[in-house]
Amino acid sequence: MSAEVEKVVMPPAPAPVIAIDGPSGSGKGTIAHRLASLLGFHVLDSGSLYRLLALAAQHHGVALDNEAALQVLAGHLDVQFQQNAAGEAVIILEGEDVTNVIRTEEMGRSASIVAALPAVRTALLHRQQAFREQPGLVADGRDMGTVVFPDACLKIFLTASAEARAERRYKQLLEKGFSASLPALVDDIRSRDNRDINRPVAPLKAADDAIVLDSTQLGIDAVMERVMREIGQLPELKRYLRNGSAA
Ligand code: C5P
Repeated sequence: MSAEVEKVVMPPAPAPVIAIDGPSGSGKGTIAHRLASLLGFHVLDSGSLYRLLALAAQHHGVALDNEAALQVLAGHLDVQFQQNAAGEAVIILEGEDVTNVIRTEEMGRSASIVAALPAVRTALLHRQQAFREQPGLVADGRDMGTVVFPDACLKIFLTASAEARAERRYKQLLEKGFSASLPALVDDIRSRDNRDINRPVAPLKAADDAIVLDSTQLGIDAVMERVMREIGQLPELKRYLRNGSAA
């Protein structure tokens, strides 16, 4: 009698994740996008979800401290992340293009208020984890390496002084034709940092196994160079570089 051979099907390995955490204005969004394009990975800008929730709350007249209502809203956020014909990211909330609306300082402030609520964070957790798809993901935020993707194969914590970050933001706003006050931006960044660092759930902090980079004195190219050096030492990431090298 021939023994029946059972086929053992191994589940596919989960897509690799690179987590880039850090405070507002540290340059993590730029680094995340550059890395994703070099590796051909997806990108998660997790801050946009908190910003979208803050905007949805405004649309629906929900107060920023109404945790129960915000939890429901977070669970039902009608959001689509798309690309326009030019390949630029477009974010649609309840049928409306809100790509630029969510980027204001006011939305950043409101986002950090709703982000401090534990029920909101739980409601958005799976939505963030669902971005993990083959061939891989670069996720930027505050708790990517600590809470959302603790098994990320590379964790970078990118920081810079509040003054340097405010100055970058100031220049960006002037370039876009907005008026801005540098001292007000420094104050705003400091109070957002305080809220993010001191909240009881998923506070802003480097994971124990994160590589901490301070970009106060480093340009974005120098930061990229450092990160690429790390990638070059990780076979599970290096193989995705189009030319196979991390130069
Ligand atoms: O990164 P961004 O400035 O768009 O994030 C807006 C706010 O959302 C942050 O100040 C922070 O309070 C919150 N946030 C968070 N956890 C994340 C991403 C953003 O708490 N993973």
